[in-house]
Amino acid sequence: MKDKMVKICCIGAGYVGGPTMAVIALKCPKIEVAVVDISVPRINAWNSDQLPIYEPGLEDVVKECRGRNLFFSTDVEKHVFEADIVFVSVNTPTKTRGLGAGKAADLTYWESAARMIADVSKSDKIVVEKSTVPVKTAEAIEKILTHNSKGIKFQILSNPEFLAEGTAIKDLFNPDRVLIGGRETPEGQKAIQTLKEVYAHWVPEDQILTTNLWSAELSKLAANAFLAQRISSVNAMSALCEATGADVTQVSFAVGKDSRIGPKFLNASVGFGGSCFQKDILNLVYICECNGLPEVAEYWKQVIKINDYQKNRFVNRLVSSMFNTVATKKIAILGFAFKKDTGDTRETPAIDVCKGLLGDKARLSIYDPQVTEDQIQRDLSMKKFDWDHPLHLQPMSPTTVKQVGVVWDAYEATKDAHGLCILTEWDEFKKLDFQRIYDNMQKPAFVFDGRNIVNVDKLREIGFIVYSIGKPLDAWLKDLPAVA
Ligand code: UDX
Ligand code: UDX
Ligand code: ADP
Repeated sequence: MKDKMVKICCIGAGYVGGPTMAVIALKCPKIEVAVVDISVPRINAWNSDQLPIYEPGLEDVVKECRGRNLFFSTDVEKHVFEADIVFVSVNTPTKTRGLGAGKAADLTYWESAARMIADVSKSDKIVVEKSTVPVKTAEAIEKILTHNSKGIKFQILSNPEFLAEGTAIKDLFNPDRVLIGGRETPEGQKAIQTLKEVYAHWVPEDQILTTNLWSAELSKLAANAFLAQRISSVNAMSALCEATGADVTQVSFAVGKDSRIGPKFLNASVGFGGSCFQKDILNLVYICECNGLPEVAEYWKQVIKINDYQKNRFVNRLVSSMFNTVATKKIAILGFAFKKDTGDTRETPAIDVCKGLLGDKARLSIYDPQVTEDQIQRDLSMKKFDWDHPLHLQPMSPTTVKQVGVVWDAYEATKDAHGLCILTEWDEFKKLDFQRIYDNMQKPAFVFDGRNIVNVDKLREIGFIVYSIGKPLDAWLKDLPAVA
């Protein structure tokens, strides 16, 4: 069975679909994998030397398989028609209007993909939910498919992806687990088995978990909610640390030593970002409310509230320590991506921080090693939740934000600046020559470290006034009124 020729098609060549399919193609040379997308520029980029996403190790994998058993195409219908297994990895934005606006997932892209699958299919297929969707989406999709099936049999599976950006290839090579949910019927179990055999090419069988459809869908939302909750918990502690003189890195180290808690995902920060955490929690909240569970909904809402609080707190701290005004002052922003080793800016805390500072009329000079100027300008002029509509549908920003300059060097960004903010933990920021930076800044020179990567004592020795999340405050800042 392992060597039977299976054809896979993945609809959606994004951050999830692209790397996941590339790794399946690498690990299963006998399986033909086609990744399709309606976005022509995206597919062209996948077929070029300049891949549309930056992900360590991805280029090597794509180079090895592309043209062999990995293909990128805009001919969506042809590849769906030919496939035995169709992964659906399209975007699921948060609804911006109508019922559930600001919370519920917008399944427009999903529904149109499902209708297209029903339309073009002439043979039985397994349809795999890969993008995170609300619990019971599979049921809705199943209905669309079976009511339009013309006698063809579809089996729906939920196979949520747990990869994190920046480490996608590593995570795909060595996943903590692969989760496959399906119907508890003989046909459902057979479909689960078929997909399991794909992953079994490289994942040990005991790490491939099988569940019913709803458990698989909910597990993905739950996992992301738990992870985000850890960050909000440590970020809440960071505010208390600043108020009491404790050091959050010492606290989280001590807490993480408890084997029941564990050391990972306890880094205090300016706030979590990324395309998943907020969206999935909002989704979870909406599902709870719809199911008459307001207390549970309230509980999870707090995770987002603390995240918003943390971003606001950072901006307020900055403004209040710079004599309550940043108007016309140059502030350097080091890092714009939502985490290091990615060029992705979806829901990055940098957007909120920058917008907050722009609201106070600061001039920003932004440097990120992987994010383009176009992207930064677009992000700063876009409305909340608009980011997850495919790029080709997004209106380009009508005007660029004039208070914002984007430069290609940290030294250039900080030249003549009054303050500098570190918003992404890029490794290169740890190695900066801070003496040189200090010499070229206005005085007093402020550092606001939103990622706790600088050596606070060393910087204070140079002469900087330093604020680092959850660390004992600089004498300068201690005299100021508390910020919230
Ligand atoms: C706790 C801490 O574990 C310990 O480190 C600290 O020093 C004192 O407080 P204790 O209260 O003795 O210890 O027991 P613990 O095992 O933590 O259980 C506390 C409660 O949580 C119990 O009612 C237990 O039944 C409940 N619990 C625990 C759950 O409901 N679910 C779990 O998964 C774990
Ligand atoms: C997350 C999940 O980790 C992944 O399993 C899921 O498939 C998709 O969502 P991702 O958003 O790519 O992955 O990155 P992640 O490493 O989880 O970071 C999310 C955000 O949390 C980033 O902004 C990061 O900087 C922040 N973070 C993470 C912290 O602030 N502190 C931490 O300790 C860890
Ligand atoms: P993720 O992070 O979940 O991978 P992305 O937004 O990066 O999300 O990718 C989703 C991709 O799905 C986009 O490239 C978008 O163009 C594509 N897409 C959306 N709807 C369809 C569709 N009906 N058919 C094909 N591709 C689609």
